[in-house]
Amino acid sequence: MIIAIDGPSGAGKSTLAKRLAKELGYIYMDTGAMYRALAVKVLRQGVDLADDVKVADLVNSTEIDLQEQMGALKVLLDGIDVAADIRTPELSQMASKVSALKAVRARMLDLQRDMARRGSVVAEGRDIGTVVFPQAEVKIFLEASAEERARRRCAELRAAGQRVDLDETLREIAERDKRDSERDLAPLRKAEDALVIDSSAANADAVAAQALAYIRTKTREN
Ligand code: DC
Repeated sequence: MIIAIDGPSGAGKSTLAKRLAKELGYIYMDTGAMYRALAVKVLRQGVDLADDVKVADLVNSTEIDLQEQMGALKVLLDGIDVAADIRTPELSQMASKVSALKAVRARMLDLQRDMARRGSVVAEGRDIGTVVFPQAEVKIFLEASAEERARRRCAELRAAGQRVDLDETLREIAERDKRDSERDLAPLRKAEDALVIDSSAANADAVAAQALAYIRTKTREN
C-alpha cells in the first residue's frame, strides 16, 4: 500500500505524512530529506552542478537511506546521520537545484522504489504520485497560500533556533516553488487522480481527519 503526498514547500506535507504513517503503522518516506542529504555532499565537495560527469560520479557513489529510530528519522548519507544539518535555507535551495538534474533524479527514483519494498509507505515529495509511484492507491496534493507557508516555515526554523525573516522566507519559498514546478524532469505537479487538500485555513488535525477519511474510502475500493 502506498500513500503519496505531494505539494509545494511548507504546505504541511511532513506533518501530515508523519501522522498518517504513525496512525497506520506505515514507513514514513521523506524524499525531500534525501535530496537535502545529497545537497550536503555537493556543498561539502564543492561539486559544480553544471559538470554532468562529476554530478553523475557523485550521485552514483553516494548511499542515502532513511531509517526511523524511536520515532526520530535518521537521514543517512554514506552511513552518517545528517538529519540535524539539512533544515537550513541554504540547503533548501541547494536541494532544489540538485533535484533538477537528470542523474540525481534517476538515482533517487531507484533508491525510493527500493525502500518501498520494505512495506507499506507514506511517501512525501513533489513527484511521488506522478513519477515515483504513479500506481499509489492514495494520492493527496497538499496546498496552502504562499504567505501561510512562509509563516509556518519561519515558525519552524525559529523553533529550531535559527534567525529568519518572514519576507526573505517568502522570497525563498517562491523561488523554490518556481524552480521545482518549472523544471523539465518530474516537476511539482498534481497527479490527475490526487485529492487536493488546501491547508491554508485548516489545522493539522482537520487535514489529517480529511486525509484519513479519504484513505478509508480508497481502501474500501481496493
Ligand atoms: O520537501 P523538501 O522541502 O524537504 O524538499 C527539498 C527539495 O527537494 C525541493 O525544493 C525539491 C526537491 N524534491 C524533489 O525534487 N522531489 C521530491 N520528491 C522531493 C523533494
